[in-house]
Amino acid sequence: MQVVIANSAAEVAILGAKYCVEALTKKPNCVLGLATGSTPVALYETLIDLHRQQQLSFKQCTTFNLDEYIGIVSTHPQSYRYFMQAHLFDHIDIDQRQTYIPDGMGEPQQAALDYEQRIKQLGGIDLQILGVGRNGHIGFNEPSSSLVSRTRIKTLAAPTIEDNKRFFKDGEFQPTLAITMGIGTILEAKKILLLATGKSKAEAVKNLVEGPLSASCPASALQMHQNTIVIIDTEAAADLEHTAYYHQVATETEQLDNNND
Ligand code: GLP
Repeated sequence: MQVVIANSAAEVAILGAKYCVEALTKKPNCVLGLATGSTPVALYETLIDLHRQQQLSFKQCTTFNLDEYIGIVSTHPQSYRYFMQAHLFDHIDIDQRQTYIPDGMGEPQQAALDYEQRIKQLGGIDLQILGVGRNGHIGFNEPSSSLVSRTRIKTLAAPTIEDNKRFFKDGEFQPTLAITMGIGTILEAKKILLLATGKSKAEAVKNLVEGPLSASCPASALQMHQNTIVIIDTEAAADLEHTAYYHQVATETEQLDNNND
């Protein structure tokens, strides 16, 4: 696991975008795994800017989102389909038929199986973007999720429901179930990029990077992945113990990259 500590949330987005540009440049028909939540919004804005400056095309790529609520239609402003259209897909040249999000209104068990199959058919995910919940969840894999789980229905934990309440109007139906890629599904991505910003994520970041491998912090499963980069700002890095080491590695990696240019 490589840990990169950026000076600000804005820098996290810029660094994260570099990996997406690299993936799309090396393999224009790559398969990207995408996340929702507030954290990746700045990254998506950076990608949209690059696309507008004609430096980036998504024409040949395919995307798979991590998760979707069960019980709200795709046109509902809180659905993850709506989120992705508004924050990315409507602003880039992607073939909309190549943007996959679990179907939260179909028969969920079948939808989950179909999703797994489609990912496999397309050769697996090249680069998976992740955020992290305050309780260490990735996708909607809440604490106690199996570390080898596949795409399935999950019941949302109380802190997750509470955190996402702000997006729903007073009295509006808020889903408590979702379809999410499993941790095993996520771990099959060839490369993983986890982004986290702000002090509310410091404990989850500490647990996922330096804590024990445990279903209590689903994101700690990334310790078992061979190509994961964690990009965080200084607030999210506040509880980490080996900060000096992460900075040392980052400096040396930068020097190596410069020598190879
Ligand atoms: C939701 C999503 C996760 C996301 C998390 C954190 O629960 N299912 O994929 O990582 O929220 O969101 P935020 O980035 O808003 O803190």
